[in-house]
Amino acid sequence: MGSTLHPGKLRLGVNIDHVATIRNARGGDHPDPVRAAEIVASVGGDGITAHLREDRRHIRDEDLARIQAATDLPLNLEMAATEEMLEIALRHKPHAACIVPEKREERTTEGGLDAAGLHNQIAPIVTRLSDAGIRVSLFIEANERQLDAALRMGAQVVEFHTGEYAHAHLDGNSERMASELNRIADMSALAVKNGIEPHAGHGLTYENVQPIAAIPQLAELNIGHYLVGEAVFVGLENAVRRMRDLMDDAR
Ligand code: PXP
Repeated sequence: MGSTLHPGKLRLGVNIDHVATIRNARGGDHPDPVRAAEIVASVGGDGITAHLREDRRHIRDEDLARIQAATDLPLNLEMAATEEMLEIALRHKPHAACIVPEKREERTTEGGLDAAGLHNQIAPIVTRLSDAGIRVSLFIEANERQLDAALRMGAQVVEFHTGEYAHAHLDGNSERMASELNRIADMSALAVKNGIEPHAGHGLTYENVQPIAAIPQLAELNIGHYLVGEAVFVGLENAVRRMRDLMDDAR
């Protein structure tokens, strides 16, 4: 994923974790997330995102090399800030590593990383990943405290958590949606001003993606669960194409 800090085409990173979730439900090898990655590449997706969780509930270690071998798309590895994950990232050298908070009991990544509070734990990991030539992203809430922490650690990218925005949309709360949107837009502008590339993701759907996609400073959206869900009905090709069209129309 390029490093432009200028408004332009908004990249779509497709998170294929939940293809692996379905595979793992039966313990076999179908559906294969590698096939999903190949399809994403064939319809013009800009990247593959995968979260190797501590409990390996979806993507597994061996999937990473298979995904990397199967397509030329940049791999964005989502990972907890642990020594185990750091070693795996350094071994596989994905294009980017996105450090996310991780709790075993959560169903999905429920909030942003407390980069400010966990500075001493996260900063050395950012340094080691960066030194290995891996682009580092921090999955944070859109606020100045977290953005400032990302800056101080030298992260090249921040990904703003759009979960609250997505919840507000689900609740039909347009006031909260607007305030979340403003927060993400303001922090995206501030990130670019400070030389950090802003991304966004979590809970994005056909219905709620456009106001986020319209934020001109955002360089990339990472979308997973909804696309894999839609793929059940319309196929992954069509789901990715439609999301791509909606994002392009919003710009
Ligand atoms: N970005 C990050 C950092 C994530 O951890 C996830 C998955 O939780 C996503 C984007 C994609 O979210 P979703 O699956 O809700 O589209």
